[in-house]
Amino acid sequence: MTSEHTPEPAVAERDAPSRRPRRVRRGALAAVAAGALVALGGCAKDAPQDVFQPSGEGARRINDLQVPVFIAAGVVGVLVAIAVITVILRFRRRPGDERVPAQIHGNTVLEVGWTILPALILVCVAVPTVALVIDMADTPDEAIEVDVVGQQWWWEFTYPENGIITSGELVIPVDTDVVLNITSRDVVHSFWVPRLNGKRDAAPNRIHQLTLRAEETGEFWGQCTEFCGLSHANMRLRAVVLSQADYQTWVENQLKPAEVPEEGTSAFAGYEAFGQRCASCHSITGQPIQPADVPLVSGVAPNLTHFMSRTTFAGAMYDLKREDCAVEPELPTGTPVECLNRQDLEAWLRDPSSLKPMVPGDQRGMPTLGLTEADITALVDYLSTLK
Ligand code: CUA
Repeated sequence: MTSEHTPEPAVAERDAPSRRPRRVRRGALAAVAAGALVALGGCAKDAPQDVFQPSGEGARRINDLQVPVFIAAGVVGVLVAIAVITVILRFRRRPGDERVPAQIHGNTVLEVGWTILPALILVCVAVPTVALVIDMADTPDEAIEVDVVGQQWWWEFTYPENGIITSGELVIPVDTDVVLNITSRDVVHSFWVPRLNGKRDAAPNRIHQLTLRAEETGEFWGQCTEFCGLSHANMRLRAVVLSQADYQTWVENQLKPAEVPEEGTSAFAGYEAFGQRCASCHSITGQPIQPADVPLVSGVAPNLTHFMSRTTFAGAMYDLKREDCAVEPELPTGTPVECLNRQDLEAWLRDPSSLKPMVPGDQRGMPTLGLTEADITALVDYLSTLK
């Protein structure tokens, strides 16, 4: 190295102290902005899956516990943050200051204090939490039972008392205990309707119970909360809470078998196409449309007997009802024919995986059947008769 080059490192050294703090400050600012963005991302007004707006007994009891715990944790968190920042700013080492701070060893009063106080806070949180967990594990003796089965990527609901079978939408009466017997046909899923109660895992070969008691009528959104493969995020559900009278009307309608459409109509063509192309997986109670040479795989796909009594399809991912349609359904819940979202339903029949990622080649999800446009129109006409 020649002497001509020696001034360069000196310049770099001179610049370094002024540049680094600016870069650090910019980095800190970016980190704070990113943190704020993530925190604000959790804010939403009237979010349909807001645990802080309970509408069920279980969710309300959980909320009554979590609010005071969050307040206590928040106060502790803020105090600790203030203490840490104060100590960093006040006692930091300043340039040119070579002094060594006073060296202390132990302080019995402080140490006993900061051991006992957090322990007391933890006891205050733990006692009601454990009590509630134990209490909520109890199931009531008098209740409507619903068997809930998770499957990649939709939920099936069977009412053992009367044989009703539906999917995507769990219909229950208000102010009534409903005990869910939750399991899975394949991998582990988790059932959660945040505004009604906490989560419960759906594990194959096991039954986990969860009690719902809705305190108001309405539609409450839920979804699978255990990662279960490609369309985990699309494994949604709705809990439809009806008044006692509306629930009875819904039950009576669900118990009716589906009617065969009149011969010669487009719906009848759809009925025949359904038997040939769909009935190896989907069943329609009361219709012997199963072709003899195709084995019916029980429970492989949603039962569609009362398809139009729902308001969603494809694992409650798509609206069956067009948003711009104001016609009220004849029944307490469902989609009036005039409001049918034909566009999405036809697109679903044309190529399901383009609307919801699935692995049909591996028996997970609905396959693309290569239906003709005439078949698709006829099938939708048929499905719209299934009230
Ligand atoms: Cu099922 Cu995630």
